Amino acid sequence: MEFSAKKRAEAAERPRDWEEIRSDFPILKQSVRDHPLSYLDNAASSQMPQDVIDRLVWYHSGEHSNVHRGVHTLSQRATRAYDQAREKVARFINASETKECIFTSGTTESINLVAHGFGRLFIGEGDRIVISAMEHHSNIVPWQILADEKGAEISVIPMSDRGELILDDFDEMLEGAKLVCVNHVSNALGTVNPIEEIVDRAHKKGVPVLVDGAQAIPHMAVDVQELGCDFYAFSGHKMCGPTGIGVLWGRKEWLEKMQPYQGGGDMILSVTWEGTTYSDLPFKFEAGTPSIAAAIGLGAAIDYLESIGMDRIARREAELLAYGTDRLQELGGIRIVGEAADKASVISFVVDGVHPHDIGTILDDEGVAVRAGHHCAQPVMDRLQIPATARASLAFYNQEIDIDRLVAGLYSVKEIFGV
Ligand code: ALA
Repeated sequence: MEFSAKKRAEAAERPRDWEEIRSDFPILKQSVRDHPLSYLDNAASSQMPQDVIDRLVWYHSGEHSNVHRGVHTLSQRATRAYDQAREKVARFINASETKECIFTSGTTESINLVAHGFGRLFIGEGDRIVISAMEHHSNIVPWQILADEKGAEISVIPMSDRGELILDDFDEMLEGAKLVCVNHVSNALGTVNPIEEIVDRAHKKGVPVLVDGAQAIPHMAVDVQELGCDFYAFSGHKMCGPTGIGVLWGRKEWLEKMQPYQGGGDMILSVTWEGTTYSDLPFKFEAGTPSIAAAIGLGAAIDYLESIGMDRIARREAELLAYGTDRLQELGGIRIVGEAADKASVISFVVDGVHPHDIGTILDDEGVAVRAGHHCAQPVMDRLQIPATARASLAFYNQEIDIDRLVAGLYSVKEIFGV
């Protein structure tokens, strides 16, 4: 049961309009607190279209079994679908080889895998790890743990008040560095970072680069070969797929040298009491029964996104971002946090005199879902000297009406708090 060929052929003949595309998402048809749901928390988790849900149902009702372990028909079906999902991932990010794509539980595990497998091998006492000032905790904490263990140092690429990285001293920072860790898009601010420039400058000094792509992959075409980075991590549930599945793409040259992250079934060639030899890539890093259904669901999500086209998605989201930014700026007393020249569809904001959690609660009363808090990026909040923001994060299936409802909800916030 594959959707891709049919969907792509149909889409090539007749690009579907955004209204029709929105109707692919059953969850968006509901009311919340007697209001139509306006889901603007896509940076936390995107929603799944019916195609992905159907694919999961089909796996559970027609294929469910273990992979790479059985000669029976169900196992062969599951194995084929799981392996095909990996091929879809590789094609989607233009990996040069499918085996460079490791399935993980999500971006966090992908980064921890690198901290373990790469960090413990190549980072030692006095070495430097360069991390940008706008990272999510998942691209900070694994490195802090490693630095503590090894006696390594962390240097932070600073950021401007507008939420753009300041790369003036980057070349000096690279002296003695063993790895640069940077996100492609900031989850808290929406900034799109200049990955190609960062990679180029890091590579000139022989320093590899890990990119947290969790917030970029749903919004733009990602080509890991064009970016030139060494590792790229992302999650299925941010890109219309299920939770519990993610990907670490890494250059074969690094992955082959790295030690396994976990030991267990499927990652071995042979086990004796004298010792164990490990499987080749990608299985060396996939111990135990994987999230088979979720991986297949991620494959279906990729088919779905490709049936629309990532460039078309990027253009649509840029329109929504511009519309949302204008509408919020029209409201007095609201400050948008994160004003980088190059932004993905995230609008973080604060309302003078109102805590973001109160904003989130009042908006929820009107059926508008946003996230409020530090967004797992406390150093970003500290840098900007704010405790938290409210954040509306858009996806291609949002419409102007969702932003209008957000604005109406913000009028209520202002009225309730008299600001
Ligand atoms: N990292 C996710 C977010 O930004 C959970 O909301």
